[in-house]
Amino acid sequence: MRAFQISQFGLENLRQVDLPTPSCGPGTVLIRVHATSLNYRDLLMVRGHYDPKLQMPRIPLSDGAGEVVEVGTGVTRFKPGDRVVGLFLQHWQDGGPSQAKSRGGLGGDLDGMLADYIVLPENGVTHFPAHLSYEEAATLPCAALTAWNALFHAAATKPGDTIVIQGTGGVSIFALQFAKLVGARVLGTSSSDEKLQQAKTLGLDEGLNYKNNPEWSSWVKKQTDGEGADLIVEVGGSGTLKESMKAVRVGGTIAQIGILSGVEETLAITSVLMRQIRLIGIYVGSHAMMQAMNRAIAQSQLKPVVGKVFPILKTVEAYRYLEQGQHFGKIVVSLDTGK
Ligand SMILES: NC(=O)c1ccc[n+]([C@@H]2O[C@H](COP(=O)([O-])OP(=O)(O)OC[C@H]3O[C@@H](n4cnc5c(N)ncnc54)[C@H](OP(=O)(O)O)[C@@H]3O)[C@@H](O)[C@H]2O)c1
Repeated sequence: MRAFQISQFGLENLRQVDLPTPSCGPGTVLIRVHATSLNYRDLLMVRGHYDPKLQMPRIPLSDGAGEVVEVGTGVTRFKPGDRVVGLFLQHWQDGGPSQAKSRGGLGGDLDGMLADYIVLPENGVTHFPAHLSYEEAATLPCAALTAWNALFHAAATKPGDTIVIQGTGGVSIFALQFAKLVGARVLGTSSSDEKLQQAKTLGLDEGLNYKNNPEWSSWVKKQTDGEGADLIVEVGGSGTLKESMKAVRVGGTIAQIGILSGVEETLAITSVLMRQIRLIGIYVGSHAMMQAMNRAIAQSQLKPVVGKVFPILKTVEAYRYLEQGQHFGKIVVSLDTGK
């Protein structure tokens, strides 16, 4: 089967290889992968910035969708022909997080989806909503679930709440779509006025260019009559956290998700306690959260925003496109085109 692998860090070392097709054993399913999607984490992983101890060689990418072609003995939830996605965190089934549940990330601790076939345990796989194509479904396991977790577990977003999204990448656009499902108000920042216009077609209420307005918290305050936002979907990291702390309302939530602009920051701790800020780390989400999210996506017929699709042969170009931040929503790598 075709697969991509890294045997040492660096995007230049991401290469197509020919590997034996895996076979499924008891309790596992063999999936023919049709589409995968890229997350910023996948770029960090290949560069060696995510897990410097990554075991090599490694097949990258946490996110992919495909068709079950064979099931092992004892499998009860799947049959050949089922359309499924893999779970980002293979061991987090339900309940709160733990050290053990935080291990077993596809495309990191374990081989990922950038291959024609993958074998996963039955519990590491879930059905996806019927109205979605493989390309759309491939965007769900990381970006969508992370946004879902931020809105509905880290916070309890409800109609009339104000949430802030940063940029127009995968997590942020899903957060926008989920927030609009429940009637929340969404304020968003972007480096591009064009992308802000595009986000408005998805329901963004107000947008601001963060390149021209690096101190965007005062804009959020103005937009909320001086109160601040209920939830900040914080993907920027060290370059945005200070602004997020000012932009959130007293008693509001910052869902700390990303590190796009860096990882180290000095925190004004007094502000955390005086303003009673709930600063919560998010690490994707559980199988149970994914099933709840999929029910909501099916019920609302929500369509993930696929900004660009690359054929598998152009996988490295897809990573470069992500690196340059040109995308809006998700970047997909299709295994069905460019064979
Ligand atoms: N903790 C978790 O479980 C988890 C899960 C998923 C992702 N993440 C992290 O979350 C972050 C976003 O991931 P993603 O996959 O959604 O990324 P992505 O699709 O690559 O999105 C990147 C976009 O973010 C915007 N951006 C970049 N720097 C920014 C800044 N300083 N301030 C505001 N916006 C900025 C840009 O949007 P514009 O072009 O519009 O400016 C850029 O295109 C990454 O750090 C990723 O590692 C964490």
